[in-house]
Amino acid sequence: MELKITCIPGDGIGPEIVAEAKKILNAVAAKFGHDMQYTDILMGGASIDVHGVPLTDEAVETARSADAVLMGSIGGDTTTSPWYKLAPNLRPEAGLLAIRKALNLFANLRPAVLYEELAGACPLKTEISEKGFDMLIMRELTGGLYFGERRTTEENGVRKAVDTLTYDENEIRRIAIKGFDIARKRKKKVTSVDKANVLDSSRLWRAVVEEVAKDYPDVTLEHMLVDNCAMQLVKDPAQFDVILTENMFGDILSDEASMVTGSIGMLASASLNDSKFGLYEPSHGSAPDIAGKDLANPIATILSASMMLRYSFDLDKEADAIDNAVKQTLKDGYRTGDIMSEGCEQVGCKKMGDLIVERIKS
Ligand code: IPM
Ligand code: MG
Repeated sequence: MELKITCIPGDGIGPEIVAEAKKILNAVAAKFGHDMQYTDILMGGASIDVHGVPLTDEAVETARSADAVLMGSIGGDTTTSPWYKLAPNLRPEAGLLAIRKALNLFANLRPAVLYEELAGACPLKTEISEKGFDMLIMRELTGGLYFGERRTTEENGVRKAVDTLTYDENEIRRIAIKGFDIARKRKKKVTSVDKANVLDSSRLWRAVVEEVAKDYPDVTLEHMLVDNCAMQLVKDPAQFDVILTENMFGDILSDEASMVTGSIGMLASASLNDSKFGLYEPSHGSAPDIAGKDLANPIATILSASMMLRYSFDLDKEADAIDNAVKQTLKDGYRTGDIMSEGCEQVGCKKMGDLIVERIKS
């Protein structure tokens, strides 16, 4: 199969981790007889430095013409980097929001899994962590507060800022359908998270999710208020399968969920549109403090490449080969600094990539 992949190395540790993911993809291509073609584009700070803007129209078109996009990370140190002296719409993050919108990537899948090998890193009490958990946060990504009208004004010397949270029923329906479709392939449970005791947008969310649920009698639906969900994630994460929620709630809850795994350096994510097209990226940020030192954990990006093979190309065997090679490398006792534990061997970013490649080949 011929796979056209646009890569966004980005900022911070992005270029290092994307390089390792490419190494893994090339090993898979060689083993299973595929032809991977990569085109890099600039986004975030890397694009600001060259073009003065965090994303150009040409870069968007290059991404659009590919079969899928693999991203590292964008952004720098918000207190010291000159990128953060620019207007908000010219900062690195604006590039990410713009590409999500331009490519209509409305469905953001963020799995949070407690890896058996890394259970010791879970910050929860043993009686909670020993039950394990494997949830997927399905976050709406192109609506809500992120893309609503906003303005800052001053009236009679008083500064005032407004952000608006809007959803129409079609935006809610399409993400709900994705959520139920995915739940069907997992443990068949959807927890729809909202703030329906306060917000109109949440009351509409709940009503539309109820309507969609009628087409999925085999999937259990429950509703949960977002504040309760934040609490349940640390109290009993094993109760969750698919968490379906709007943009801002999903942003916050997915950080919380990734933290309770104890290994954010391991978590992948996918942002999908209505077709098979998607942008795949690690759940973690650009870690500017360790950039260029060969210290980053490339596994979340490697697992994002695996998600890409699975969701955009239906290459399940190939994706399994990557997932298994990662698991085996951990079983064999190799760790990057962020997931290091006693008795294991600490390795750098490149070496971790090499170890995983070896296990794909074997
Ligand atoms: C994320 C990030 C982004 C978001 C930022 C960088 C704009 O936090 O992908 O979760 O808020 O969506
Ligand atoms: Mg976030």
